[in-house]
Amino acid sequence: MPKPLRVAVLISGRGSNLQALIAAQREGRLPIEIALVASNKVAAQGLRHAEAAGIPTLALDPRSIPDRASYDAELFRRITAYAPDLLVLAGFMRVLDGTVLAPWAGRIINIHPSLLPKYPGLHTHQRAIEAGDHLHGASVHFVTAELDGGPLLACCEIAIQPGDDPDSLAARLLPQEHALLCHCVQWIAEGRVELRDDGVYFDGLPLEHPLRVAAWGSEPVGCP
Ligand code: GAR
Repeated sequence: MPKPLRVAVLISGRGSNLQALIAAQREGRLPIEIALVASNKVAAQGLRHAEAAGIPTLALDPRSIPDRASYDAELFRRITAYAPDLLVLAGFMRVLDGTVLAPWAGRIINIHPSLLPKYPGLHTHQRAIEAGDHLHGASVHFVTAELDGGPLLACCEIAIQPGDDPDSLAARLLPQEHALLCHCVQWIAEGRVELRDDGVYFDGLPLEHPLRVAAWGSEPVGCP
């Protein structure tokens, strides 16, 4: 049996994506060990889920450190002490300094609630509705210094229905996000995904488009 991938999950709030990873790992569906859950919010609900699951936690309040670059350096110094193989940003609501990201190139992913490259940043559900879009979704991408701008690995799609508001859309998207993130972490843990200089490779072949994920456990659509 290969060693499970050591994963550190970074969160800022509720932690439902974290819970999905914990559940999938416990069901034996993810060959990972969650080595750490880290947060910039001491009161993040997700930290309580991690504690309940017996996972080490780290909360580092940005107000305790004078400037952004020093905060990021300290956060990553502490995370690195847990020797993770992969960092997963799951609702981590801070932009990270490029200096700390550089050593993690290809080993740090983020889930974002839009069909990137549409709607980087905040209020994605509202922006999709206001634009009159028919499709919405979430994306998982490798993290670079560009906000929500790194190479895309996979996405999930949902239809925007008449009468949807940002809350209804977010609620319908969330379970799909959970499946999407679990799939991406699974593929990385299985060694099927690689970020090279010219883009993302899946099963050794370049991805022309992000993979599309449906339910958890299904094969991705759009494989090369
Ligand atoms: C998720 O919807 C995630 O896509 C989003 O925050 C939420 C966290 O929910 N992330 C971003 O907006 C990052 N730009 P959770 O704490 O319940 O997993």
